[in-house]
Amino acid sequence: MAVAAVGEVLFSVVIAGLAVVAENPELLRQVAKLFLSPPWQDVIIPESVVRETRKSPEELRDEARRSLNLNTRDFWNIVVCGQAGVGKSTMINAFLGVEDDDPRAAKSGVGETTKARTVYQICEYLLMHDIPGAGTEREPADGYVLRHKLYAYDVVLCLTGDRLTEGEILVARQLAKFQVPVLFVRTKTDIGVKSIEKRHRGRMTLEKAKDEFRKEVNASILPQLMGAGYLTPRIFFVSAWWIQDFSILGKDNFISGDTLFRYQMDEIVFFEQIMLLAQGRRMQTEEQGYGM
Ligand SMILES: *[C@@H]1O[C@H](CO)[C@@H](O)[C@H](O)[C@H]1NC(C)=O
Repeated sequence: MAVAAVGEVLFSVVIAGLAVVAENPELLRQVAKLFLSPPWQDVIIPESVVRETRKSPEELRDEARRSLNLNTRDFWNIVVCGQAGVGKSTMINAFLGVEDDDPRAAKSGVGETTKARTVYQICEYLLMHDIPGAGTEREPADGYVLRHKLYAYDVVLCLTGDRLTEGEILVARQLAKFQVPVLFVRTKTDIGVKSIEKRHRGRMTLEKAKDEFRKEVNASILPQLMGAGYLTPRIFFVSAWWIQDFSILGKDNFISGDTLFRYQMDEIVFFEQIMLLAQGRRMQTEEQGYGM
């Protein structure tokens, strides 16, 4: 009887795992397909930025092209911001599909990195831009979104730990005000869940530990995001380890890696949201309704 019960548990775990694997390749193939093709139109500039700056979308894109060398016409652009220590370079390396010590890898900066922006080519038409987090002397949070022209990227990823810093809250507020598409990402989730498992000395199931972790992070960050102007904020729980195994560098073998990664949380919806946001930035027209 006891043996049968254990068997049943194992069986249902395996089934759940297979279901996930079955859904993954198709979704990830869609993501890859998007970023392995050039965008079909230039990026849409949010209306509120047009209003605030009193410049036309065309002018704003030109400005980004000239001052940042940002090619919004021919590439999809994802910008990653976050403080040192939240795992920004590990995340970028995961997208690149390389280890942190690979020559092509993004360097994890100890302290402040000097460069204003570093660009990585993830695949044929996808660039990832690494910019320093807000709230330091070099990088004041005031004016951060307009200064870095975050509105000209397809998607902004704000990587964070357990809480947003004051600077990050100010940036979140600006992003909300200007309606710039952003995903708030809690990184290193495998470590977070592991530490909860440890705290409960292994007496908590993995699913419970994940739930507990979500609850704790939710409780500290969601109120901050609501205060910054997001009505129904969401945090994406993501581990770079999972992403690294799914490098979308133009290969077909999306499931080459550890698809049954124990600590998987929101990685699949994270990719899905990136895709949907990027598509949305290329699917509207600016002509109607800007009311300048
Ligand atoms: C965390 O917050 C999200 C909303 O962003 C909610 O859907 C989810 O149920 C919350 N999870 C826990 C465990 O509190």
